[in-house]
Amino acid sequence: MTRRPVLARTYAELNAASAELLGRAAASHHAGHTSLGLVPTMGALHEGHAALVRNAREANDVVVVSIFVNPLQFGEAADLERYPRNLEADLDLLAACGADIAFAPLADEVYPGGEPMVRISSGALGAKFEGASRPGHFDGALTVVAKLLHYGLPPVPADYRAYFGQKDAQQLALVRRMAADLDFPVEIVGVPTVRDADGLALSSRNRFLTPEQRTAALVLHRSLSYLKEQADRHEPLDVEGALAMIRSVLQVDLDYLEVVDPDSLEPLAFNCQDTPFTGEALALIAARVGDVRLIDNVRLG
Ligand code: PAF
Repeated sequence: MTRRPVLARTYAELNAASAELLGRAAASHHAGHTSLGLVPTMGALHEGHAALVRNAREANDVVVVSIFVNPLQFGEAADLERYPRNLEADLDLLAACGADIAFAPLADEVYPGGEPMVRISSGALGAKFEGASRPGHFDGALTVVAKLLHYGLPPVPADYRAYFGQKDAQQLALVRRMAADLDFPVEIVGVPTVRDADGLALSSRNRFLTPEQRTAALVLHRSLSYLKEQADRHEPLDVEGALAMIRSVLQVDLDYLEVVDPDSLEPLAFNCQDTPFTGEALALIAARVGDVRLIDNVRLG
């Protein structure tokens, strides 16, 4: 029998629940040393989130999953409105993954004075790729992540880790930078992307694809895999070939396909099409399929 996590609606409830569970864990350990893993989410949980929670479960005594649809990171009110919300189903999935606490605050708890006047700036790293087509998105996402990392901070001495999906590579790079640049006392853990059997990266947006669009969308992973195979063989990367592959699928409207440094997301300085590929890189892709914007990436090297 799986047990549903404790539901905390306020910061005070979250604090009380994590103090109690960390206290219990300390009492049952000889060394008394405990750890807490936080998994920030916007709900509409799927197997991709489940992988984050399972990773946190394996490494920590107490696992907290936050569920909050953050208005600050949505450009258009319509997108915020149509974002799927289903707390009951989320709690069932969290029970199956062994989460201890679900922190699902209302907007008034997170932003008691309305939209915050002071926000985290995602800088140049947040202005490109996804940031270029969604101005303000990463400032909004980092602002709430900063708040969630504060809320989740263990109320008693304990190791502290936070889990983010590698699927959102730019978000992960930004969260790592924020934690390093602003000295957040938390270890940021990146968790590999979960894919359907045919390779499509799991995303809460996939539900908006028609069956034909879904088939078309598979070219994103196909083109990334094409580059990865070349990188694995230390061959020059045929980015033009990957682009041609994507252009041949009419329903897919490519925004970008770029090979970049995994931390700075700067395009690689050397021309990896002419030299055998031996470095470390990320291939990033974003495209629209119908109304649905999809992103994916693969680590090269
Ligand atoms: O990746 C997400 O689901 C969101 O951007 C996050 C990190 C929960 C912040 O709202």
